Amino acid sequence: MSPSPTIVRTVPALRRAVDRLRARQATIALVPTMGALHDGHMALVALAKRRAKKVIVSIFVNPTQFAPSEDFSSYPRTWKADLGKLAAENVDLIWNPDVETMYPQGFATRITPEGPATVGLEDRFRPHFFGGVATVVGKLFAQVRPDFAIFGEKDFQQLRVVARMARDLDLGVKVIGSKTVRERDGLAMSSRNVYLSGEQRVVAAVLYRAMKQSAARLQAGYDIQAAMASGAEMITEAGFELDYFEVRDAETLAPIASVKHGPMRILVAARLGTTRLIDNIAV
Ligand code: PAF
Repeated sequence: MSPSPTIVRTVPALRRAVDRLRARQATIALVPTMGALHDGHMALVALAKRRAKKVIVSIFVNPTQFAPSEDFSSYPRTWKADLGKLAAENVDLIWNPDVETMYPQGFATRITPEGPATVGLEDRFRPHFFGGVATVVGKLFAQVRPDFAIFGEKDFQQLRVVARMARDLDLGVKVIGSKTVRERDGLAMSSRNVYLSGEQRVVAAVLYRAMKQSAARLQAGYDIQAAMASGAEMITEAGFELDYFEVRDAETLAPIASVKHGPMRILVAARLGTTRLIDNIAV
C-alpha cells in the first residue's frame, strides 16, 4: 500500500511541512489544482516527479476566478477519490486550505495581470478570470515557494499568464507546461467533461478534429481566414455556440498576420448546452 500523503490545511502547518521536505536541499515541484483529478492532472504529477525530489499538490476551488453566474458551487468536488490517486502516486504533501484560510476577513489585494491576460481570448468572455487565477497562484507560490510549478497546456492562456507573472515578479519559480492528455477520440480531459450528456460527449470530440483540420490547412499554406473559417464551421455545425476559434502567436498570444509566422497556437472556446469547453493545439 502507498503511504498516505501528508495533508495540511493551515499556512503555519504548510510552512513546517515544506521546511521538512526541504531538508537536505530537496527540490520541490508544485502542482496547483482545483481537485476533481483526472488523468490529465496525474500527468502533471508525473512530470512534477520527474522534475523535483518532492511533489506538493494543492487542491483549492478558488472562488475568485469564478463569476457569480459560473459553476463555483457545483464545481465537482471528489476529495476521497483525489486522495486515493495522489497516494497511489506517492505525492509528498497535499495543500488543502479552505476559503477563509486563503481569503481571510478583510483580504484586499488582487493581482491584475496584463500581456497574455489581455489578448481578447478567455479574458473577453471571463473578465474576472485571470485576476482570480493570478492572485491565487501568486499566493500559492508565496506559501509553498516551489522550485517548479506544473500547469497543463490545456489552459494555454492561463499557462502563459502564470509564466509571465512568475517572471515579471521574480517569484523564483520555473513554470513548466505539460502536454494535454486526451480521450481516445481527441477530447481534452477536463474536470468539466462530467457535465456533458452522453450525446454531447460524442459531439465534443469535434473540437479537436476542427483544430486539426485548420492546423493542416495553415500548414498547407491556406490563408488564415480560410483555414480558420473551415474549423469554425465544423464546430458550429456540430451544435456548439462558438466563443472563439483563433490562431495566435504561441508565445505572446497576439494575433498573427501571416501563416509564415513562427510557432502558432490554435485556441478554441465553445459551449455545448450549458457546458463551456476550451482547448488548443500547436501549429
Ligand atoms: O487550472 C486550474 O485548475 C486553476 O485555474 C488553478 C491554476 C489551480 C488556479 O486555481
